[in-house]
Amino acid sequence: MKRTQILILVLGWMCLGRAWAQGGRGAEEGKPPGEAVPAETEPGIPVTDKLTVERCGGCHKQDGKGNLTRISWIRTTPEGWEEAIKRMVRLNGLQLQPEEARHILAYLAADHGLAPEETAPHRWYLEMRQPENDPAPSASVKMACGSCHAFARPQTWRRSTAEWHLLVSMHLGYFPVAGFTSFHARPRTDGYGILPVSNPGPPLKDPLESAMEYLTASNGLHSAAWSNWRGSMRELDLKGRWMVTATAPGKGKYFGTMTVSGGPAPGQYKTEASLVRVADGSAMTLAGASAVYTGYEWRGRSRAAGVGEVREVMTVSADQASLSGRWFWGGYQEFGLNVTARRDFGDPAVMGTDVTSIRAGSQGVGMKIYGAHFPRSVAAADLDLGAGVKLAKVTGVKPDEISVVVDVEAGAGTGWRPVSLKGRTLAQAFAVYDHIDYIKVATDSAMAHLGGGPHPKGYAQFEALAFNRGVDGKAHTADDVELGPVPVKWSMEEFVARYNDDDKEFVGSIGADGLFTPAIEGPNPQRRFSTNNTGDVWVVANYAGPGAEKEPLTAKGYLVVTVPVYMKWDEPEVAQ
Ligand code: HEC
Ligand code: HEC
Repeated sequence: MKRTQILILVLGWMCLGRAWAQGGRGAEEGKPPGEAVPAETEPGIPVTDKLTVERCGGCHKQDGKGNLTRISWIRTTPEGWEEAIKRMVRLNGLQLQPEEARHILAYLAADHGLAPEETAPHRWYLEMRQPENDPAPSASVKMACGSCHAFARPQTWRRSTAEWHLLVSMHLGYFPVAGFTSFHARPRTDGYGILPVSNPGPPLKDPLESAMEYLTASNGLHSAAWSNWRGSMRELDLKGRWMVTATAPGKGKYFGTMTVSGGPAPGQYKTEASLVRVADGSAMTLAGASAVYTGYEWRGRSRAAGVGEVREVMTVSADQASLSGRWFWGGYQEFGLNVTARRDFGDPAVMGTDVTSIRAGSQGVGMKIYGAHFPRSVAAADLDLGAGVKLAKVTGVKPDEISVVVDVEAGAGTGWRPVSLKGRTLAQAFAVYDHIDYIKVATDSAMAHLGGGPHPKGYAQFEALAFNRGVDGKAHTADDVELGPVPVKWSMEEFVARYNDDDKEFVGSIGADGLFTPAIEGPNPQRRFSTNNTGDVWVVANYAGPGAEKEPLTAKGYLVVTVPVYMKWDEPEVAQ
């Protein structure tokens, strides 16, 4: 589920007293409904920034150790802090100038942030990807805390035990319905909706109780990961030239460069990037700005011709030599590039190849090798492409691109091959295979949003990925080798969910390039009961190309086409 899609059911806000901001348990007017909140007993993280104390300390009182109530017992991502600060402005009467907000955000992200290890499992959420899944420790925990927003939301916060309880009180205060629909509900075993816990069925632990057990044990305030990271956090200097490799679903690979120069303040940068799409040589150029939070969280915003505004969420590696993450755009952030950038140290480096895989027995295959600072001339002996791959000739050498022709022996074993240029090696540069054993539709469950009237369309880009069974000879096992995207014929099939299911006729259409374009929102008089064009369908890929001559391969992906998100309460703006 998308995080922006969360609440259609915002009920009225309840009045909350200051006692709540102060973590007060007893004060009648601030007493949260229904849940007992234990007293704060854990050591807090002192707030040492003057402006933060000034602006937040009026309601969040400071103690003798420099702790501010609530704030000192919470850690989260830049987006998490931004959401909380915005709510203080929106509902609790906080007044801040934009530059003050930026300063406080940067301070809190640095001193009350999350370590790279703590955010690593949840990058998809920060990078605004379609969740393939949103794992939770149990269905019951997911019911409590993953039914309105992704469970990744609480997974990107760390709090003391008392703070987890106060968060529950915050929810019940603002959305009293949460108690009935989620906290004390039970997931129905048939997967359709929810029932109150009191309903018949096997005894089930109260979802909220399960959630609190998990969160207080796993997402506590203090962690070794954070104290290590906080201790080693350094001033970053990311200025210079970066080599960029990227892939986009349905579009294939991109190579290019990004130049990072100093911005208006330390930790802020200006960026210029240019990428070339391998498939058609088309160029994409971007110019923008970025900020780095918590010593590793790159948040950028740039403009690209023909695309508009692009947001960048990346992590900076601990050695400051690489960046990786996603650059995205679209009404639902559904378009994007998976990006890796490596710092240009001025010496030869191999970044990638245009082909993703080559079939054993192929002769005279042209291949391009991308990188930087290649020598003026490259002899056959300078390049090693792994077992069974023979370099027939070098056909062109540019500083950032080498063109070669290769022959692959008929008996070359299936698996990854490196590209090694005079000892500069890129492992797993391309794969060698005998034939394609199956294909998969990515993503295998997607969501699109009707639009085109008052609301933007939420597209879904599909691609078909080919796989080889790997050395164990069995398909669908861990050693299978992904051979990259293959061109397929796309179609849609009915996903039969009800009688006279006719969703396929109404939800929208899929193009030859795998891009699903949803139909317009709103009631459709052509449809029975004038319903919206919503529905669910199978998106089907058929592949009959090289490597699968014996019989064509088919794969299906599930697509839900739903209504627009009518309300977006927050768009994180931590990017510069
Ligand atoms: C005018 C009073 C007021 C000011 C000023 C204020 N807050 Fe709050 N804060 C509240 C109240 C009331 C609550 C409890 C209700 C809620 O969570 O919205 C709260 C709760 C919080 C929470 C806990 C939310 C959660 O996730 O459980 C955080 C974090 C927070 N404030 C951060 C801040 C920061 C940071 C500042 C300064 C930039 C600030 N507040 C300034 C009134 C204030
Ligand atoms: C009824 C729907 C609903 C359920 C159930 C729900 N949440 Fe939320 N949650 C929200 C909404 C809406 C917000 C945004 C509040 C805002 O900023 O205005 C939110 C915000 C949050 C935040 C951000 C806090 C902040 O200070 O901005 C966290 C963390 C969170 N929820 C965790 C949880 C946990 C843990 C549970 C389970 C115990 C849970 N949520 C269950 C609707 C829900």
